[in-house]
Amino acid sequence: MQKKHWALLAALIMLGLSACGKNDGTGSSSAASGSSAAADSGGGKMLDFVTTQDSTPLPIKSEQFDTPAAKEFMSTGKNPYIGNADAISRGEKLFKLYSCTQCHGGSAEGQTGPSLHGPDYKYAKDATNKGMFETIWHGTNGGMGAKGAGLMDPTDPTNGLSPDETLKVIAWIRTHGKTTGNE
Ligand code: HEC
Repeated sequence: MQKKHWALLAALIMLGLSACGKNDGTGSSSAASGSSAAADSGGGKMLDFVTTQDSTPLPIKSEQFDTPAAKEFMSTGKNPYIGNADAISRGEKLFKLYSCTQCHGGSAEGQTGPSLHGPDYKYAKDATNKGMFETIWHGTNGGMGAKGAGLMDPTDPTNGLSPDETLKVIAWIRTHGKTTGNE
């Protein structure tokens, strides 16, 4: 009995300590992984990304492509998350979180904003994943605001979708259409 109590006490202390460690650690560990990700990027050529408004260079840095999938996309224009169930469900959550649903509807079927099902898009390039990425990142002149990190909210560079998140949102959007955008 006595032993059991000690074990319980020890377990509780450990739990408390690990919880504290977690709180302290989150900030520093995510900062550390952020910098290591930035250090990792660099290899791989970057495609010429352009804005949907006027085809000028897209404001985006190669360091922002900080996951394996994002890096692959950066140099190939192919979205590796197409058909990936985990990425798709995350993409659906992000679509809601960033209020895309308010203008495009809960299934991207169109509301005040157009349907995103395709394959016919107002901006023909949105049939490709590179084109849709550019449209979401930098917006259009017709009521679609930029959603890319640092552009959506110029006062906060961390606010907005990362390239990796944008690819997940696109992978979800593509589940509603007949084309994957990687064709
Ligand atoms: C405030 C309303 C609004 C929100 C929020 C919004 N959109 Fe849009 N979106 C629009 C409108 C309006 C258009 C049509 C733009 C145009 O005609 O230039 C559009 C166009 C688009 C297009 C191009 C469609 C085509 O036919 O070429 C894509 C892709 C898109 N939105 C994705 C998204 C995603 C993803 C989000 C969330 C991250 C989002 N939008 C959030 C209003 C919105």
